[in-house]
Amino acid sequence: MITSSQTSPTSQVNKVIPLLEKNYGNNLDSDYTEKIQELDRNFNYSANSNAYWSELEHSTLYGTSLYEQASQSQKLALNHLHWVLFYKSVADSEIETIHYNTITADCLMAANSDYKMLVELLAHETSQERHHIHAFYQINYKTTKSLLGKKALINPVSDQASLHKHKSFQFSNYLSCAANFIATMMLKDKEQSNSENSKDANKPVSFPTSGFVHGFSGQSTQLRRQFFYDNWGSYPFLAANFYGVRYMANLLLKNHEFCIHNYHKKLQKNNDFVASPTTISHYHFLDESFHTTTSLFMARDFYKNLPKPSNYEKLIANLAILQAQQENLNDISGISTNRFLSDGDTIIFLMKLLQSPVFDMSSQEAMQWIEKCLCHEHEGFHVNLKVHNKLLSELRKFAEQVDYLWPVNREMRVMASGGSIKKAIKNNIKAFKQFSESIIASN
Ligand SMILES: [Fe+2]
Ligand SMILES: [Fe+2]
Repeated sequence: MITSSQTSPTSQVNKVIPLLEKNYGNNLDSDYTEKIQELDRNFNYSANSNAYWSELEHSTLYGTSLYEQASQSQKLALNHLHWVLFYKSVADSEIETIHYNTITADCLMAANSDYKMLVELLAHETSQERHHIHAFYQINYKTTKSLLGKKALINPVSDQASLHKHKSFQFSNYLSCAANFIATMMLKDKEQSNSENSKDANKPVSFPTSGFVHGFSGQSTQLRRQFFYDNWGSYPFLAANFYGVRYMANLLLKNHEFCIHNYHKKLQKNNDFVASPTTISHYHFLDESFHTTTSLFMARDFYKNLPKPSNYEKLIANLAILQAQQENLNDISGISTNRFLSDGDTIIFLMKLLQSPVFDMSSQEAMQWIEKCLCHEHEGFHVNLKVHNKLLSELRKFAEQVDYLWPVNREMRVMASGGSIKKAIKNNIKAFKQFSESIIASN
């Protein structure tokens, strides 16, 4: 392991440590994770199926003509599936976070034993993530199975030709591993000790998740993942840089969860029924506020008390932020308010959804609707663009305070250039054409 301790006395005090310690103490005093665990244990889809879990605009396909003509039960299903899709990406991101919390904590501890509190803080956050992921998987599994049926668990033959091109939103893959994952998590919970961060530390990264760190676009290769794993785990400056990427993911999550948190407040104020997933989002929002604070202090302040980074370290740190923009935030979507990638990767999922018992369409009808929703302007794109612009300005506010960033990162130029409805529709037309051709070729 390469450390900067050669140039840094181990007794060097990092000024941000007391702030992180305070944040850790506040987190320890809270019981939001326990509340999430309880809701997870008792979740039953049918007891929550007649209520919206978030505002209407947080529904899959919101703003399209298909949404406008959907029945009440279809609208409920689209709202629940939006929750499911969002938390599928959150769970994937948190699996990655667990991994990188561990290696960066080890790296910092090796550089300076004064960082023991930090290791404990990250171990605590890691253990909270395990419970969050468990809850998301459990609810997603039960909800998807109820709404889309067992058919969604199997890949129809016609999907095979295009699966290699469209990696995201593969519900069949996702669901078939969800049950295994839950079992594994339960075992891990039992085995859990206080030494969270000492385990798995030197294993190579080999899990093919598509969360924020590896990239929602699913384009990240094993080689690239290994590259960032090695770097974030080897240099204290780069360990701190990982929290820059983590903070970007935190903001994306916070932006959306804050809306559900407000929805939860509104329902409570009106004495209306609150569905369990809404309450889980509310408690997750509160739990994650501690994690967001950790990320911000680590990414914005902590590194300033470390020895000056080499040109190599600055290069890698910039590549990491650039990759985070490119793989997660380079486009806008017409089918979800908080998706900032091209909709091309969602076509297979939409085919399954429209042919499921929720819509019961033929494949030809499904194709026609998908073309209408993805390739023509509608309100959904405009709602997404608004959310995109809000997130962009928050990310820029953060990046401005990180002095080692290149202008392309400081101004979040990749994300900014993706904020165009015209461009998004153009990309969707291209992806839809490619999909149609692969279907024709496979028949
Ligand atoms: Fe979480
Ligand atoms: Fe978190």
